[in-house]
Amino acid sequence: MKNAIITGSTKGMGRSIAEKLSVDGYRIWISARNQKDLEVAKNEIEAKTDNEVMIHAIDFSNQEQIERYADEILNTGQTIDVLVNNVGVYIPDNLKDDELKLDMQMDVNFYAPYYLTQKLLKQFEEQKTGSIFNICSVVNRKPRVDGASYTISKFAFWGYHKLLHQTLLPLGVKVTGFFPSSINTSSWDGMDVPKDEFVQPEDVADMISTILNMKRGTVPSEIDLVAINPDF
Ligand SMILES: NC(=O)c1ccc[n+]([C@@H]2O[C@H](COP(=O)([O-])OP(=O)(O)OC[C@H]3O[C@@H](n4cnc5c(N)ncnc54)[C@H](OP(=O)(O)O)[C@@H]3O)[C@@H](O)[C@H]2O)c1
Repeated sequence: MKNAIITGSTKGMGRSIAEKLSVDGYRIWISARNQKDLEVAKNEIEAKTDNEVMIHAIDFSNQEQIERYADEILNTGQTIDVLVNNVGVYIPDNLKDDELKLDMQMDVNFYAPYYLTQKLLKQFEEQKTGSIFNICSVVNRKPRVDGASYTISKFAFWGYHKLLHQTLLPLGVKVTGFFPSSINTSSWDGMDVPKDEFVQPEDVADMISTILNMKRGTVPSEIDLVAINPDF
């Protein structure tokens, strides 16, 4: 059975991607901080697909926990077919604020995918196959003044994405970045916003599934997904 690791996957886009890949026949590895949510997600997904769901409670702002998780994956001795670097956090701030919320957003939005992928890199090199999806953001195309630390952290991640793409391409490992504007996820809960005019997480999941079924020669490098409402 093929393995797909999706970070930050009890809710939001990570959850949609996990569900789709489970339907597609992957053993999915889901992760989040809340153990109860993980157990609920596992039961719900396994009930629909009969495919095994691995759960791990991790705080992706903690390097030690991330590296322990990577070791656990590597110790199974199995192929890593898909890695979706999805986990991310958005905390509004502005360069004019007395203090930025930079540390937390750098930890989760940049260092988490960086530490995890770097630990798994040798395995991808040896496999000479596999796909990595990096969930970047529309802020990489148009920096958000009121999301200053978020923009900075996603630019660091974008730089890493580009390097990964170039480094792994000659080895046969495909690296694709997604650049969505507002997505209809739990991040927007409680806000009076037109969620049906946002990018829908199921569409991102379907695109990942389609990319995974492309012929060996085709590698989409960066995909922009724009909400139909230009204000989002
Ligand atoms: N939503 C948007 O409008 C939008 C737009 C562009 C890009 N993006 C990007 O898309 C990705 C997914 O966003 P989303 O809106 O789907 O997120 P979300 O709905 O807030 O879901 C976040 C998921 O990640 C987990 N998580 C959050 N912080 C974590 C941490 N420190 N350690 C471990 N797990 C953590 C959450 O579970 P726990 O709380 O239990 O940990 C949850 O399962 C992010 O990279 C985000 O930057 C989002």
